[in-house]
Amino acid sequence: MKIQEVLQKSYDYAIKYTDKGVAANYIPELAKEDKHRAGGAIISKEGELYEVGSARYKFSIQSIIKIVIYLCVLENYDFDYIKKFIGVKPSSKAFNSIIELELSNKQIPVNPFINAGAIVACSLLMEKYGNNTFDMIINRAREVIEDDKLDFSRSIYSSESSSAFANRALTYMLLNNEIIDREINVEDLLNTYFKSCSILVDAVDLSRLSFILSRNGKDIENKQVIDPDHACIIRTLMATCGTYDYSGDFAIRIGLPAKSGVGGGIVTASKAGYGIGVYCPGLDSHGNSYVGTRMLESISKELKLNIY
Ligand code: DON
Repeated sequence: MKIQEVLQKSYDYAIKYTDKGVAANYIPELAKEDKHRAGGAIISKEGELYEVGSARYKFSIQSIIKIVIYLCVLENYDFDYIKKFIGVKPSSKAFNSIIELELSNKQIPVNPFINAGAIVACSLLMEKYGNNTFDMIINRAREVIEDDKLDFSRSIYSSESSSAFANRALTYMLLNNEIIDREINVEDLLNTYFKSCSILVDAVDLSRLSFILSRNGKDIENKQVIDPDHACIIRTLMATCGTYDYSGDFAIRIGLPAKSGVGGGIVTASKAGYGIGVYCPGLDSHGNSYVGTRMLESISKELKLNIY
């Protein structure tokens, strides 16, 4: 089957499930999204782009930015040092769980893709870059997504900032346990994290990020945009932690490393060299796009991408 047909088939199959998902409502601005809007993009091994549905609709990247945030941390600190603050273990509770943090070894977030882990990652970056940290993150996102116009949504940022009770609770626990340096200003730290989550992307952008991760950090022109060892660490964490406490089910169902965001996007990584990104804002109970997961199920099956 040709790639455009694979993509169309995945869309036709998954779009029947739009009623099953629920748009994130703990960030009021995200609740306004139309859960019947879906899209996807695939970049072939040869670098051809294929699109379906609302592949150019802009939505907030949310947790998918945690890939870039952790990449920046890997680029600034030694891996063994980072592990003193952020683990590499799968999570067994929701992405913003307080009990998971409370019960984890030395109260260190279990991985960089849950909220607590990404907030600690931002704090490590702030120790080096201070109030320029958000600029550093968005500039690195522009490089790895290969879109120098990436910007963030002011309305989503302020909506999250005014409703982030769980993230504030997690941050104060992390300060209390001295996982975050007490010199760091909490509001500056959270603003860096919220702005990062509010960066606007579309499914085509996600397919470009996926393409680079899938090719060990190389873009279509064979430029090394991400260090191959870092790309490998990120793919591994995507496989084990990328869809939170659904990661085991996701591995069985789709068989690909992936990272989701509550904006409705999912980015994958496939050693077969494809770039794949999907979008639909209705979420399952774990915070992963319901329709997006089904699209990937169909794409993985048709292109025989299951890595297990
Ligand atoms: O901090 C939050 O809750 C959001 N900005 C990001 C969470 C998220 O995307 C979880 N992913 N599926």
